Amino acid sequence: MTQDELKKAAALAALDYIIDGSIVGVGTGSTVNHFIDALAGMRERILGAVSSSEASSRRLVGHGIAVFDLNGIESLPIYVDGADEIDGSFAMIKGGGGALTREKIVAAVSERFICICDASKQVKELGGFPLPVEVIPMACGHVSRELRRLGGEPRLREGFVTDNGNLILDVHGLRISDPVAMETHINQIVGVVTNGLFAQRGADVLLLAGAGGVERLQAA
Ligand code: A5P
Repeated sequence: MTQDELKKAAALAALDYIIDGSIVGVGTGSTVNHFIDALAGMRERILGAVSSSEASSRRLVGHGIAVFDLNGIESLPIYVDGADEIDGSFAMIKGGGGALTREKIVAAVSERFICICDASKQVKELGGFPLPVEVIPMACGHVSRELRRLGGEPRLREGFVTDNGNLILDVHGLRISDPVAMETHINQIVGVVTNGLFAQRGADVLLLAGAGGVERLQAA
């Protein structure tokens, strides 16, 4: 199977977690795009979705799925999203698509985070994938200096502006032995909007697609 076929297999497995009549939290990325396309086939069974990016919203609306404003919703039963890396405790690096801030917000109001991945995303220690950090534009220099002090090499994502009008620094070479502490530390740098570590609120379920099929793993 190709990597894209594995992504699709993981995405289809997430359909089993949808509760009839509910609003579904929807992430962003190529794996989630498969999920959105599959959701279209059962759109009569859900009320609609809350989306984590303009790109996912467009795709949802294109399929005739209603997109709700998160401010009108207290809680979502599930949030379905991919990851760039996921470790054994289901902490993740996300934001390869630049949607990390809205992803973290939608995840925060969701009861269960269902992570859909192909097996290449599973790692022992996070940090091989450069950590995305969303930054207020005028703070880029300051945040870069602070990230260097943590041992990383921040690189501005050229020609990219987030849905929130901010910039992304992709931080290479960080040693992330304690993802919760690193997430907290980076969030405290003035000018950082969000970082792509999803460790304080990791995934609850991992649907991991490999050559042998889709494994359904629960957080400890
Ligand atoms: C989007 O900002 C990201 O967090 C994605 O969830 C992550 O990059 C995974 O993307 P793919 O599904 O495209 O691999």
